[in-house]
Amino acid sequence: MRKKTVCLIFGGKSTEYEVSLQSVTGVLNNIDRNRYDIITIGVTREGRFYLYDGPREKIEDGTWCTSGNITPVFFDPSNPDAPFAIVTGGDVKQLQIDCIFPVMHGKNCEDGTLQGMFSLAGVPYVGCGCTASAICMDKATAKNILSTHGIPQAKYLCFTADEIDRRADTLYEVVEENFSYPVFVKPSAAGSSVGVTKVKSRADLPAALRCASIHDRKVLIEEFIDGREIEIAVLHEPDGTIIASECGEIDPGSEFYDYAAKYINDTAKYYVPARIEKSTQKKIAAIAKKVFVTLGCRGFARVDFFVRGHGDGEEVIFNEINTIPGFTSISMYPRLMEYSGVPYSELITWLIEGAGT
Ligand SMILES: Nc1ncnc2c1ncn2[C@@H]1O[C@H](COP(=O)(O)OP(=O)(O)OP(=O)(O)O)[C@@H](O)[C@H]1O
Ligand SMILES: [Mg+2]
Repeated sequence: MRKKTVCLIFGGKSTEYEVSLQSVTGVLNNIDRNRYDIITIGVTREGRFYLYDGPREKIEDGTWCTSGNITPVFFDPSNPDAPFAIVTGGDVKQLQIDCIFPVMHGKNCEDGTLQGMFSLAGVPYVGCGCTASAICMDKATAKNILSTHGIPQAKYLCFTADEIDRRADTLYEVVEENFSYPVFVKPSAAGSSVGVTKVKSRADLPAALRCASIHDRKVLIEEFIDGREIEIAVLHEPDGTIIASECGEIDPGSEFYDYAAKYINDTAKYYVPARIEKSTQKKIAAIAKKVFVTLGCRGFARVDFFVRGHGDGEEVIFNEINTIPGFTSISMYPRLMEYSGVPYSELITWLIEGAGT
């Protein structure tokens, strides 16, 4: 069998740049090297693309871009077999690749922008296509679609940043007509809880709205769900069947699962499987698969829920979907799949073999 060349892209002009470095380290450590040759392209925080040919430790510790092992790389949309090229010694060298695996998260990475570029070139890539990526990144759009398909979710309102600029101090009227405090305020398209605030009183609302609007031109206000945070991994099997994993549970160990709880403090606790009823697990798996199909996803996605209540009274509420979920070896997605019988390296193989244009 001819070895395929897989191009892993990492980093990115996104608030989740650091997460990507850890995610791609997980892939580099677990990809089946008997099947795949690998080239790595790093994207700096400023959005510069480089071919990186140094040790993987320098990706993990963040020094890859100052290591001297980088060469500027250019994108050629008219060449599906070699969409990237470098210039060496005055000559253009095209990089032959069979598949791209973007192992990066958030804006400019997971939101359809890169995916559109790969589709334009006609090169196969792992994960959702351009449209599904864009829809899933924009929480307001995903919610609007899912609300017409009967997916249970928190009550929400959406404001544009322009409206917030004009009337942040009076929007409490609309908010208080629809919700009681606390409410959650969040950018429609961001990630890692950046710009997310739990607002407990009218006085805190304008600052929260302005903060969220820094990160996106659309801002969501949501009913507070007093529940447990449950995540589930969805995957296309090689034959096209869509499977869902067991559920995992996150206890953030803080007021909510904010940036510090995710990446800085050691307060969060993770439970695989989640401490929920078997019937609730089944219900979540069915809803997650429906969300995946409804939003047109391909490859993989992690779907996040709240479960409110206990025992027979457990109620399932969709929160959001992530089309390139955190992928470090201790991240929820690979852990859930591993627990459900798909080891990390097989998971990577399935994703690569399921790549599409
Ligand atoms: N309506 C809500 N009720 C209760 N808690 C919420 C609500 N919305 C968000 N949260 C809390 O805020 C956290 C972050 O919100 P959310 O998952 O919507 O965005 P995000 O995590 O920034 O996006 P991503 O997972 O794509 O990085 C959630 O994990 C949860 O702890
Ligand atoms: Mg989230």
